[in-house]
Amino acid sequence: MGSQDILNLASRRSLFYPSAAIYSDSLAGFWDFGPYGATIRRKIIDVWRKQFVQKEGFFEIYGAQILPEPVFKASGHLDNFNDPIVQCKKCHSFFRADKIIAEKTGKNVPESLDVKELSEMITKHKIACKKCKATQFDDVKTFNMMMKLEIGAHGGKPAYLRPETCQTIFLNFQRLYKTMRTPLPMGIAQAGASFRNEISPRNTLLIERELGQMEIEVFFDADKINEVEQFDEVKNYKLNLLRLGKKVEAVSCADAVKKKIVSGKLVAYYLARVQQHWERYGIAVKDMRFRELDNDEKAFYAKETWDFEVKSDLGWIELIACNYRTDYDLKGHGKQSKQDLSVNEEGKKILPHVFEISAGIDRTLFVTLEHAFKKEKKGDDERSYLKLPGKIAPYFVAVYPLVKKDGLKEKAQEVARNLRGMDFDVFFDEKGSVGKRYARMDEIGVPFAVTIDYDTMKDGSVTLRERDSMQQNRVKIEDLPKTLWDRYMDC
Ligand code: GLY
Repeated sequence: MGSQDILNLASRRSLFYPSAAIYSDSLAGFWDFGPYGATIRRKIIDVWRKQFVQKEGFFEIYGAQILPEPVFKASGHLDNFNDPIVQCKKCHSFFRADKIIAEKTGKNVPESLDVKELSEMITKHKIACKKCKATQFDDVKTFNMMMKLEIGAHGGKPAYLRPETCQTIFLNFQRLYKTMRTPLPMGIAQAGASFRNEISPRNTLLIERELGQMEIEVFFDADKINEVEQFDEVKNYKLNLLRLGKKVEAVSCADAVKKKIVSGKLVAYYLARVQQHWERYGIAVKDMRFRELDNDEKAFYAKETWDFEVKSDLGWIELIACNYRTDYDLKGHGKQSKQDLSVNEEGKKILPHVFEISAGIDRTLFVTLEHAFKKEKKGDDERSYLKLPGKIAPYFVAVYPLVKKDGLKEKAQEVARNLRGMDFDVFFDEKGSVGKRYARMDEIGVPFAVTIDYDTMKDGSVTLRERDSMQQNRVKIEDLPKTLWDRYMDC
């Protein structure tokens, strides 16, 4: 594993890079994704959509990114979505107060500490400014992390870029409950951008100001948290749980429910689905864990939170917040909008509870790349490759003519065209030695390469080379689609 290898690769092959970088005053925390990076990112979402959202029978929406102020009054973000910040008196740089204290002391600083306690800790631990080394700071203040806008002509209405995609899901819930004619539990999903005015964006895609989220909100009747039809499918499946004050242990879903480690079957079921789904991105279960959050770490809307974390050489990275949000959101929006957001099911009036699976797209991308990165040496030759599952590789197959002359290029173009016609993602490359072309595709994780050579012109066979084993086999052109399709379905 090597996050630095991924940063080098990202820069060399333009997977992702800072946005507006040609300007010296570009903004930190905003990233552009080049063709390979954007494609892998999109396929991570596609796999989530097909294998998670669709398989669970959820609905996906596309909601507005800008929402009016009352939404965030109701959601609690105006009052609670704050970071503690502190300014250096000498160079005027801003820092996250809790982070600079944690860096100096090596201890976690609970989010529940108030600004006065944080100011006292900064003085007590003689913390110095990270830029100019001065030890004089202003008092710690709270800073709201939402990005504020004004909509309409001068003096227009205040609004905000959404800090989490799920708020539109809560606003849409009652309408969709009626029009989609689906009983509870009902899942609504959304993938898109959220925006947070982070004081210190860092670690590239891990702490961003514009972040990709794929969120699922499962609405259910709180009295039926233990009525989950599909629970039998996961009852013996083991979750890697890191409970408060304990070591990681593999606990079956049935035991997690029986021992009241989680609030009910519904929670255990979706934790299992998360662990199973993230394996599809090529991450081994041994490198995953659900960390139970303590009261002073949980978001203000959550009653129970399990952070799904994956091992990285930067530490354990939170990819997903699994939050039991109760009826906090529907209650808040109902009160603020003066609408009754409850639903009527079989004569029972219910304000549903919500279990949330809130995944970071860019974090998943970064950690997936890190886990896929492999370096190997054979004799004097060293190569690096991305062992990406084929369904999220930027291309599934590359097609090359051995040389451009004698009709080989035209034959290779024909093979590439036919494969594209069958919906395969094909990269065509006619330049340089075949060895170098293989190496370039290995580096970005393309699982197969097809080479058209002089034998192809005689007997209609091609070389099919596999990325991971580097094995080469002869395959008839007419057998290529089925051979590739079988491999695609396997990954
Ligand atoms: N919706 C939860 C989060 O953004 O973390």
